[in-house]
Amino acid sequence: MSRVVCSADLFPEQLERLEAAGHTVVGLPLGNANALAEAIPTADAVICLLNDEIGPRILDAGEHLKIVANVAVGYENIDVAAAQRRGIAVTNTPDVLTEATADHTFALLLATARHVAEADAGIREGRFAPWRLQQPFLGADVHGRTLGIVGLGRIGAAVARRGRFGFDMRILVHSRSGRPDLERDLGAERVSFEALLADSDFVSVHVPLTPETRHLFDAAAFDRMKRSAILINVARGPVVDEAALVGALETGAIAGAGLDVFEGEPAIHPGLIRCRNVVLTPHLGSATLDTRRAMADIAVDNVLAVLAGRPPRTPVTGSSRADSV
Ligand code: DGY
Repeated sequence: MSRVVCSADLFPEQLERLEAAGHTVVGLPLGNANALAEAIPTADAVICLLNDEIGPRILDAGEHLKIVANVAVGYENIDVAAAQRRGIAVTNTPDVLTEATADHTFALLLATARHVAEADAGIREGRFAPWRLQQPFLGADVHGRTLGIVGLGRIGAAVARRGRFGFDMRILVHSRSGRPDLERDLGAERVSFEALLADSDFVSVHVPLTPETRHLFDAAAFDRMKRSAILINVARGPVVDEAALVGALETGAIAGAGLDVFEGEPAIHPGLIRCRNVVLTPHLGSATLDTRRAMADIAVDNVLAVLAGRPPRTPVTGSSRADSV
């Protein structure tokens, strides 16, 4: 019988699966680093969330630890190289969240282009401007426009498919590695980062957070974009320099932004709250009930496999985070 320390709020069915396999589940309060540190010395497995920092100190304390199962596709919260050196498996939850996250990307894109949040707030405050040609909230067309995808991993590709086949958009891509078959299917043009910024009406971010992608979107990047362009970020907050973004929105260097992730989550840059031309959601990319259940299931599959001496279903291999999304 093994001890599974769980800082993720699993659904009852996953808790039952762990218990049915004879394991003891030790539930921890969400995001409580001290509780995690205290529980680690007796843990055989950890099921954790993105806001749990799993570094050398935690890994060293886990003398029986065999697996760290992150319930997320990203894993920048885990020191993977340090875990590997100690023979501890690290797993994530790829694939099952791809479509839900791509849907949310488009929800933000459409909401920002058509001022959905602002218009909704206006109605609730009793403002319903009569129909006229030049009424408030005139938005931007989405169909037929140019969508720039930065990072053509699973989620980037799913967003590109929606743009190409759902909205007849021209697709530009910038990514570290080429995917010629996919690019051909999408009719996508592979371009430099600078060319993508200059030519896109919508720029959607789908890169993982690495030292190279931190603040990839800075003041210089916003200056290269069209003044009518809209930035969408469902990937990781620190890929965007939020202070520079606020500056770009305030000076009209770009027209708007739809953001699901933030530099100092859950804190939000006060300038973003002030800006009218942004739509903000609290890291909801994968947040559908079915997707969250599927993510939790994979994490439990991985734990059950490793505790039974089998290889995990979705191991994180290498210490690179580049293919995580
Ligand atoms: C992830 O899985 O990495 C997301 O950010 C949460 O769904």
